[in-house]
Amino acid sequence: MKHFINLNDVSDVTELVKLGLEQKANPFANKHLGLNKTIGLLFFNSSLRTRISTQKAAMNLGMNVIVMNVGSDSWQLEFEDGVIMDQGKAEHIKEAAAVLGQYCDIIAVRAFAELKDRNDDYKETVLESFRKYAGVPIINLESATRHPCQSLADLITIEELKTKEKPKVVLTWAPHFKPLPQAVGNSFAEWVLMTDYEFVIANPEGYDLSPEIRKNAKVVHSQEEAFAGADFIYAKNWSSYEQYGQVLTQDPSWKITPEKMALTNNAKFMHCLPVRRGLKVSDEVLDADYSAVIQQAGNRVWSVQAVIKQILEGLA
Ligand code: CP
Repeated sequence: MKHFINLNDVSDVTELVKLGLEQKANPFANKHLGLNKTIGLLFFNSSLRTRISTQKAAMNLGMNVIVMNVGSDSWQLEFEDGVIMDQGKAEHIKEAAAVLGQYCDIIAVRAFAELKDRNDDYKETVLESFRKYAGVPIINLESATRHPCQSLADLITIEELKTKEKPKVVLTWAPHFKPLPQAVGNSFAEWVLMTDYEFVIANPEGYDLSPEIRKNAKVVHSQEEAFAGADFIYAKNWSSYEQYGQVLTQDPSWKITPEKMALTNNAKFMHCLPVRRGLKVSDEVLDADYSAVIQQAGNRVWSVQAVIKQILEGLA
């Protein structure tokens, strides 16, 4: 594996899930791989899970880890070509990425969508600029439109918990007052579509994900219809793709409650976290035995460890 920015960088999803499970079973077996190698983690946005799980995974593989909050710890970066830099941004990505590539063997980047212009966000300027200018492998720690480390952890969790070969997996929109990116929903849909699970997306009218991402997935506008017989419920809010970045509804009837979970086939509840209790999901669901959110977050270590391992093997 050269980079891990989106699914195009992955040759075999099933093998990568297996590799994640192997990392979990034997976390320190490959400590030699990262010896005297450095990973730089760059955060344009806040993080708890991604930041700590990636540090831990890199340390499990013997790597040195440098973490930087871009903007507050560094210069503000300019991404546009050909501009006269007479405003607030003091450094261009061309130099910044190339310089960081001198210090780091792998660079991992988090940079969320701005949700102002759909074309701009879906161009993935930040991650693609690092790919272009850094000269070292790039890992996506959640970009404008994708969160592949999360999706790999999600598939690892489903593999651990599934009780049948082809479970019914439901991705459901849940209400929120702020416009949130589509990255987690997009990625989850893309990665589940690489499996042979039954897959249904439930969201209100106006919230359909990009047609290029949901492809032939079944989309329904009724949670009750989607939840019937489901083995996994994966909740997430996203803002509208069609009316880009807008909150079209905060309909509380889309909140995940024990009554909704009772419609399922004793489904496990999943959410990438952080989650606002009582808003998207009721306390009773998050506190129930069927909630898998902590196991899911724990698996973030093994997903990114599998990715870093494959990249380190490519560097050797
Ligand atoms: N799920 C996830 O990416 O969590 P953080 O935003 O805390 O990293």
